[in-house]
Amino acid sequence: MKFKIIGGEKLEGEIEAKGSKNAATKMMIASLLTDEECVLENFPLIDDTEIVQELCESIGSEVKIGNSALSIKTPEIKNFRASFLSRRNRIPVLALGPLLNRVGRAEVPILGGDKIGPRPVDIHLEALKSLGARINFDQNYFYAEAPNGLKGTRISLRYPSVGATENTILAAVLAKGRTVVQNAAIEPEIIDLILMLQKMGAIIELGSDRTIYIEGVKKLNGARHRILPDRNEAVSFACLALASPQNKIKIKNARQENLITFLSAVRRIGGRYQIEDDGIVFYGAKDLSATEIETDTHPGFMTDWQQPFSILLTQAKGVSIVHETVYEDRFGYIEDLNLMGANIKVFSKCFGELSCRFNGKEHPHSAVISGHTPLFGKNQKVRDLRAGIANVIAALIADGESQIDGVEELDRGYEDLDERLRNLGADIKRIM
Ligand code: EPU
Repeated sequence: MKFKIIGGEKLEGEIEAKGSKNAATKMMIASLLTDEECVLENFPLIDDTEIVQELCESIGSEVKIGNSALSIKTPEIKNFRASFLSRRNRIPVLALGPLLNRVGRAEVPILGGDKIGPRPVDIHLEALKSLGARINFDQNYFYAEAPNGLKGTRISLRYPSVGATENTILAAVLAKGRTVVQNAAIEPEIIDLILMLQKMGAIIELGSDRTIYIEGVKKLNGARHRILPDRNEAVSFACLALASPQNKIKIKNARQENLITFLSAVRRIGGRYQIEDDGIVFYGAKDLSATEIETDTHPGFMTDWQQPFSILLTQAKGVSIVHETVYEDRFGYIEDLNLMGANIKVFSKCFGELSCRFNGKEHPHSAVISGHTPLFGKNQKVRDLRAGIANVIAALIADGESQIDGVEELDRGYEDLDERLRNLGADIKRIM
């Protein structure tokens, strides 16, 4: 499926940041920890949540969706082996802990997901093993068991991985005794997951310096939780608004407290916004100026923001630098932007101050963007979810027509993207 976009239309109005993809999918897995019903409000209807629904149903969950909420109840684990899923994402490995806690055995499909580098799960597996799990895998499945149950322990994560932190929490909440997780990730989606687990009866404390303390309980109950708004959606639409002087877009539900680093970067390049009670209004700007950004774990500048922000930097005057320190291979889309008229060079040296795991390795992870460069419509193919939103934003501000192939990838993370953009005035059509 493709998007056909005629760029240059004025975009104006209100667009809502839906419930966060990267929280909703984990909360569905958290619901497997109880035999009672969990209700997730502000639930995003996207392909990634459908994939997790398929996973949960194959284990024994009963799922109902309506009125922007999902109800999920797993009275018994009917299968500790999740069936092979019709589509893949990175969530199944997170079900290991809940299944081990409830039935002592777990078999889940190996991960799929974005094409942004190898994305190993060694840190997840090390943490689960130190909680007492025995894990093997082949090409298709992880096989885990915990014949003596999971037991709390002290775990220091080699890197504050989002997934590994979530995996450890989901395993430790029902483990025997106390678990201390040092060097944990503390992304807002993780804090929201902790809020839901606390409602379910979990005992979790947040220490200073990225330490999370979990005291295992015997049983968890159901809960009702409203999913936090998606800050990646908010940033995508904010960059779209800022990238063209004629635009003015209010992002309903965008939350300042989860966007502090992004908003400061916007201010630094001369972008304008206004914080309101129920969202943030972003104004298109003529005179953006260059800057340097480095992606990092929270509360740093998020790796999922560098793609839409780089488009903004193609419209800023001067030389900007983007240093990607989270993923080793997240600049593939730069080639697409250059074909549209951008002037961006990518280097494998570190162009920044942060300590970076890719230093001295041959990973293309520093970009130098020279602007301002007008963009022209071109046909493109979506490489991964966030690269795809960069393709869409670039096409919307470019002169002329672009056709973007492979938009199924965008449907994984953005609900009704084309319709919502049309409501702002965009000329975008979905074609076969
Ligand atoms: N890593 C390892 N070993 C591990 C786990 C991670 O080496 O066991 C490395 C990864 O290869 C990567 C880095 O650590 O270089 C960060 O990975 P992390 O585990 O933190 O990320 P994730 O849990 O796989 C989530 C989001 C990503 C988002 C990152 C960073 C989900 C489903 N995905 O991925 O979102 O970019 O955190 O914030 O929550 C997206 O939504 O498009 C997306 C890619």
